[in-house]
Amino acid sequence: MFVDTHCHLYEEYYSDMDELEKRIKNNKVIKVINNGCDSKSNMEILELIAKYDYMYGALGIHPESADTYTLTDLEFIEKHINDNKVVAIGEIGLDYHYGKENRDKQIELFEYQLAMAERVNKPVIIHSRDATLDTIEILKRHHVKGVIHSFSGSYETACIYVNMGFLLGINGVITFKNCNLKDVVAKIDLKNIVLETDSPYLTPVPYRGKTNSPEHIIDIANFIAKIKDISVEDLAEETNGNVLRCFDI
Ligand code: NI
Repeated sequence: MFVDTHCHLYEEYYSDMDELEKRIKNNKVIKVINNGCDSKSNMEILELIAKYDYMYGALGIHPESADTYTLTDLEFIEKHINDNKVVAIGEIGLDYHYGKENRDKQIELFEYQLAMAERVNKPVIIHSRDATLDTIEILKRHHVKGVIHSFSGSYETACIYVNMGFLLGINGVITFKNCNLKDVVAKIDLKNIVLETDSPYLTPVPYRGKTNSPEHIIDIANFIAKIKDISVEDLAEETNGNVLRCFDI
């Protein structure tokens, strides 16, 4: 039985949510954390988690909305952060992949949501792309726990996050060719790792090209179990324990 700690299950990607639920449950996924990225998805998540028992929510404004978000978007999160089955603030963070022109705005948005997480005592789900140094600096300024989503950095970076108390979210990227994440995961203690798919993105090998879904958590789990030379059942048990230490699900 698996938990997918990071996915984006919105109707724009999955036209039949009931069919998706069946597929997910048939593939031994018991719970997922559906992550918001703007007000539209945050509102949809509140509806979906009320309807589907297996689904929990994280509300947040993604750094890609740093130029367009409004104060109302942030107030919406604060208003609903203690709703039933809302378990985290995410996905939030920094993304310099397409440039750093709005770095200040991204940092302002990120810090606002980290401060909210401290205030309401909820874990955070962090997106950091080509922004490791700033992410670490900023996280050091806040007393938050949570997951570094889609971690794919070096062993040294992994150790910094782990020493700060963060879990590393590992997804289908680990199955990609020429990816050094395999060596990093081999060296990192399993107690610091949680599984995720980032659906509908980052579909694992051998399903590249298709829309990802939480059902593929099994493929990611099998891959990591082989690296760690343990059974997939033991991997599930250990990583689920990590999830429960961080999230109230
Ligand atoms: Ni995501």
